[in-house]
Amino acid sequence: MKTILLSTAHTDLERAAEIIKNGGLVGIPTETVYGLGANGLNPAAVRHIFEAKGRPQDNPLILHVHRAEQLRDFCRDVPDAAWTLAERFWPGPLTMVLPVRQDVVPAQTVAGHDTVAIRCPKNDATRELIRLAGVPIAAPSANLSGKPSTTTAQHVLHDLDGKIEAVIDGGPCQVGVESTIIDLTVTPPRLLRPGGVTLEALREILGEVAVDPAVVAPVPPGTRPKAPGMKYKHYAPAANVVIVAGTREHAAAYIRRHFVRPNAVLCFEEELPLYEDLNPTVYGFERDVESLSHNLFAALRTLDHAEIGTIFARCPEGGGLAMAVQNRLRKSAGFHVVDADTEQ
Ligand code: TXA
Ligand code: MG
Repeated sequence: MKTILLSTAHTDLERAAEIIKNGGLVGIPTETVYGLGANGLNPAAVRHIFEAKGRPQDNPLILHVHRAEQLRDFCRDVPDAAWTLAERFWPGPLTMVLPVRQDVVPAQTVAGHDTVAIRCPKNDATRELIRLAGVPIAAPSANLSGKPSTTTAQHVLHDLDGKIEAVIDGGPCQVGVESTIIDLTVTPPRLLRPGGVTLEALREILGEVAVDPAVVAPVPPGTRPKAPGMKYKHYAPAANVVIVAGTREHAAAYIRRHFVRPNAVLCFEEELPLYEDLNPTVYGFERDVESLSHNLFAALRTLDHAEIGTIFARCPEGGGLAMAVQNRLRKSAGFHVVDADTEQ
C-alpha cells in the first residue's frame, strides 16, 4: 500500500474523510500526539488499527468526537461531571472513561469493555475531518506498539509507511504527550494517565480525585489495571533508559562515573555545560516544562538506536504537567530510577 501524505487543506480533509468512511486508516494530527484513526463504529476498520500497530487485542481505543453533544451518542448515562469537564476542557487534552457504551459502539473498539473512552481533540483540521466523516474516529497513538508516540507526520511515516492509507501533516503536536485520562465510572474519579489537563485542574472541578497506582509504579505481573494500556512496556527506545534523580551536580557526577561510549545523555538545556563533552541530547528547559513535554518523544526517537545501550535521562520534578513527563519517562525506563544524591 502507498501511504499518501495529505495537508490540512479542505480538499485533503475531504479525501481523508472518504478513506475513513471506506474503512481505511489515516494518521491524524492532534494537540497531544498523532493518532492512528479509523471509523470507530466499523469493527473491520478497528481491527486494521490493531494489526497496523501490533497492538494487544485487550487494549481499548479512544473515540474522538468533534463536539461534546456527541457524548450522548456513544455513552448511555453521561454523568453530570462529564458535561462539566467537557465544557471546561474540550476541545483539549482530556479523555473521559464513561459508563456505559451505547450499542452502536462495537465491542472491538472498546476491547470488550462496557465503558467507553471519549475525547474531543483541540485540532481544527482533525475536528473538521471527524465532522466530514460523520462517524467518531477511534485512534490510538500512531506508533508501533511499545515505541515512543509520534509527534510529527514524519514520525508516523517512519513507523507506519505502507501500512496505512494516508497521514495528514498538521505540523508538530503542541502538547507532545498523550491526553490526561480520567475515569468517571468510579467514585471518587480516578486519574488513569496524567497529561496536559493537570490533576490540580481536575481537582478544582471534581474535588477528590484518586491517582491510579499504575501512574507512578509498575503494574505488578498478573494484575489488571483500569487502563489496560498501562501494563505494557511503553515509549521505549531500543536502548535502556535510566532516570538519574538528584541535584544537578550529583546527577552529573553519577552519569560521568557510569557513562561509556556510545551511551547517551538526555538532559535539560540548563545542564548543557555539565555534559558538553558527552554529546548530550537536550529536550527543553527545566524551568519550562511545556518545552519538555513538547520535545520528549522526538528526543526519545532520535535516541532509538540499539547500539546506544543506556540512555541516562534527567526528569523534571513537581506536579502539573511535570507529572505527565515523569510518567512517560518512568515508563520508558521501566521505572528504573537511581537517586544520585544517595547512590554511587
Ligand atoms: O492523546 C491521546 O489520548 C492520543 C491521541 C491520538 O488522542 N491517543 C492515545 O491513545 O494515547 P492510546 O490508545 O495510545 O492510549 C489510550 C489509553 C490506553 O492506555 C487504553 O488502555 C486506555 O486509554 N483506554 C481506552 N479506553 C479505555 C476504557 N474504556 N477504559 C479504560 N482505559 C481505556
Ligand atoms: Mg499509545
